[in-house]
Amino acid sequence: MKKLFIVANWKSNKTEPEANSWLQRLKIKDLRLTNKEIIICPSFTVLPILKSLIINHDSSIKLGAQNISPFDEGAYTGEVNGKQIKEFADYVIVGHSERRANFYENNNLIAQKIDKGLKHGLVPILCISDLDQAQSFNGIIAYEPLSAIGSGNPDTPENGEDIASKIKNKVGEIPVLYGGSVTSDNVKSFTSMPNIDGVLVGGASLDPLEFLKIIKNA
Ligand code: PGA
Repeated sequence: MKKLFIVANWKSNKTEPEANSWLQRLKIKDLRLTNKEIIICPSFTVLPILKSLIINHDSSIKLGAQNISPFDEGAYTGEVNGKQIKEFADYVIVGHSERRANFYENNNLIAQKIDKGLKHGLVPILCISDLDQAQSFNGIIAYEPLSAIGSGNPDTPENGEDIASKIKNKVGEIPVLYGGSVTSDNVKSFTSMPNIDGVLVGGASLDPLEFLKIIKNA
């Protein structure tokens, strides 16, 4: 059975009490998760509370950040660096299309962020919307077509599979996820494809019961 990565990208959502209640309602302990790695990527502000709740509940959930500074510690106002992230998380999303579009991130900057993540022991989850953006590194790639993100119009599993296999041909055998309008109803159609190793879930991950269904159905 292949290992599946189920990643929740909360984007710029949830306060500390909201994150707390989300995790309480997930009741992850009741699930058998032998082949599923669950990764929650919240805002930096709620990483600490989630980390302590996960430890208190003896949960196998992993945490990820949604961004990382391209620099190490120092005079970089407003940035959160890899050493700081590693205190709380094991993964980091880089190159999300919302950062490429709203914060002018280019492939060069994204490559620097990947390097900083790896340097500090984080697994980068590189988001790409086309094959040209795929690069070789020791981490995970999430294929997210722009038209599928937040639209309710997911790509077809067949096209996702085709791109995932092309990504692996280009960069080597690393896990490739699909992202874009994933729900509990369509998740299995993606994860049952041979080259798709999991999903990156935005909107549907905000509701703990829907996310729980996604985990179960994947
Ligand atoms: P969505 O977002 O699931 O809301 O489409 C996915 C993403 O942006 O990672």
